[in-house]
Amino acid sequence: MGLAEQYLLPFLNNHWIEVVASCILIYFANLFLERKGTNSSKVPVNEAMTNKSLPSRSRGTQNVIKKGGVGDDDEEEEEASNLVEPLWPDDLQHVPYPHIKLAPEESLRRSNEFYELMNKRRSVRFFSSDPVPREVIDNLIRTAGTAPSGAHTEPWTFVAVGDQEIKKEIRAIVEAEEEINYSKRMGSQWVNDLKGLRTTWVKEYLTEAAWIILVFKQTYGILPDGRKRNHYYHEISTALAGGILLSAIQNAGLVTLTSTPLNCGPQLRTLLNRSSNEKMMLLLPVGYPRHDATVPDLKRKPLDEIMAVV
Ligand SMILES: Cc1cc2nc3c(=O)[nH]c(=O)nc-3n(C[C@H](O)[C@H](O)[C@H](O)COP(=O)(O)O)c2cc1C
Repeated sequence: MGLAEQYLLPFLNNHWIEVVASCILIYFANLFLERKGTNSSKVPVNEAMTNKSLPSRSRGTQNVIKKGGVGDDDEEEEEASNLVEPLWPDDLQHVPYPHIKLAPEESLRRSNEFYELMNKRRSVRFFSSDPVPREVIDNLIRTAGTAPSGAHTEPWTFVAVGDQEIKKEIRAIVEAEEEINYSKRMGSQWVNDLKGLRTTWVKEYLTEAAWIILVFKQTYGILPDGRKRNHYYHEISTALAGGILLSAIQNAGLVTLTSTPLNCGPQLRTLLNRSSNEKMMLLLPVGYPRHDATVPDLKRKPLDEIMAVV
């Protein structure tokens, strides 16, 4: 007589109900544990494993790659869920680059001259209401639009406000938020750090300056059919455009104040009818300085503190 006939069959005969019940219990316990693991990671088990095993550049659509770039917030991780047509045709024409080579002395002279011009740039907080022609503002923004951008997506919108009523509304929004920023949100360290600069929540320049230029980054593009197009490095691209804009303002003999009013973005976006893919990065009053304008007597770091040569 075999072992199965001697022991297993009599056992199953007497205890088959317990055996079946145990199997069902183990099956459901396993199912429960699997579900629990999946929910806590919010990523299906098979996809989490796939993403882990791939290098970051080739990971899938689980918001693993931040396309916006440096220091991005969560909102910037919005991505095109479907593949859209490539930005450029495969047979995009490449044309000769026109370049006039300068003599080294001329390069030196120009670099000195540009440095002298830019070294005179200051953040000015007191503006006159002298008008600035619209054509000048057009050229400043044209120049900002020459900035490089990730895959040439040009992920920016510049809103130029010359209308006095809208400027008043902008000022009301900014002052209301800045009062809360200074009294509650910023904290004593930040407020103390700003004391020497004499900045307050009162922003007269917002109604005095001839123009206000608001720089928005577009966190993604919107195709005519509503699908999203990725805007790679939208943050740094728009910041570069902002830097070029500051240089253009200085070059035109105008002044500005680089400002980033905290917590005002959504309200200003609504006021200016911008869409939800546009996030305000900079708010720049642009115009002429008031005759009695002052600036804090700040010094800039010398070259050897900001440059390393290898
Ligand atoms: C990202 C950024 C945000 C800034 N935000 C403000 C601001 O909200 N209000 C303000 O009065 N100045 C602001 N500033 C201006 C700085 O205080 C100023 O650039 C700094 O004191 C150096 O002075 P300068 O621009 O005259 O060289 C900002 C500057 C930068 C670059």
